[in-house]
Amino acid sequence: MELINRPRRLRSTPELRRMVRETRISESSLIYPMFVMDGKSQVCEISALPGQYRYTVDMTDRCIEELLEAGVSSIMLFGIPDHKDEMGTQAYAEDGIIQRAVSYIKNKYPEMYVITDVCLCEYTSHGHCGVVCECRGRHDVDNDKTLKLLQETAVSHALAGSDMVAPSDMMDGRVAAIRSALDANGFTDIPIMSYASKFASSFYGPFREAAGSAPSFGDRRSYQMDFHNRREAIKEALLDVEEGADIVMVKPCMSCQDIIRDVYERTDIPVATYSVSGEYAMVKAAAEKGWVDEKKIMCEMAVSAYRAGASIYETYYAKELAECIREGIIG
Ligand code: PBG
Repeated sequence: MELINRPRRLRSTPELRRMVRETRISESSLIYPMFVMDGKSQVCEISALPGQYRYTVDMTDRCIEELLEAGVSSIMLFGIPDHKDEMGTQAYAEDGIIQRAVSYIKNKYPEMYVITDVCLCEYTSHGHCGVVCECRGRHDVDNDKTLKLLQETAVSHALAGSDMVAPSDMMDGRVAAIRSALDANGFTDIPIMSYASKFASSFYGPFREAAGSAPSFGDRRSYQMDFHNRREAIKEALLDVEEGADIVMVKPCMSCQDIIRDVYERTDIPVATYSVSGEYAMVKAAAEKGWVDEKKIMCEMAVSAYRAGASIYETYYAKELAECIREGIIG
């Protein structure tokens, strides 16, 4: 048979396949999400996220050491406070859970890059990401009042030693507000990774159990994006770039690969994506039943995110992925 084009030629040996790989991954681009809680000497497994834990600050050492050993040197912290109130005051308290966790970890492990999630939903009694108001007879979140609290939160994280802040609330104008508050307090060098294109998604379900942050009434659709919208996701990313974001994130990951590609093409800053709790939980559950190969699925999901255009990948599988990269299974 006369065939000039035989793409199989480049697939014939493992060495050749590795040589012609278009997507390469390094463990230096992984971020591990980590939950810290008030209290002492406790580590609790999160039932909807098998293999993931909530740690009191004094118990974070082993997890951090294992990550560093695997080559993962970035974490994103989420706080679970004992006390919640209407205004989420523990989010910006000087001795809040995140503030204490950051200073503990940065003092002990300066080589660990610590990113802090900036949002109010884990700290408010109603579980919404901002200040709840009554708007034309409906409960809603007051955008501009929330901005002030987000500014305070971000500055308090920076004061505690956070390396980067990551606002995930989806209020309008929050990147500009946070940038100016950081700058006014002398933190011009702290980057902002904004959850720019964040959809209202059922994939966050297990996280809300982990963080105890499910809204007690209504949902988040008046601030997180409608997952039917693609052009709006680009608009959100472009707005955040204009407001001074250093990195933009697309979230969730697996169901948003088109958006990752769009944002990659339309912006000129690094694009991150967050493979969220529901994605992890689904793989875990199917693997437990013996229906999928966990390791292979995890690798394929990660590579597809990078192939779509992400260069930073946040995942509960960060440590296991780093190990696969080191073993040469992917990368
Ligand atoms: C806080 C926040 C959420 C997640 C990250 N930051 C929950 C939400 O928006 O409801 C979800 C992460 C995950 O599901 O793994 N706003």
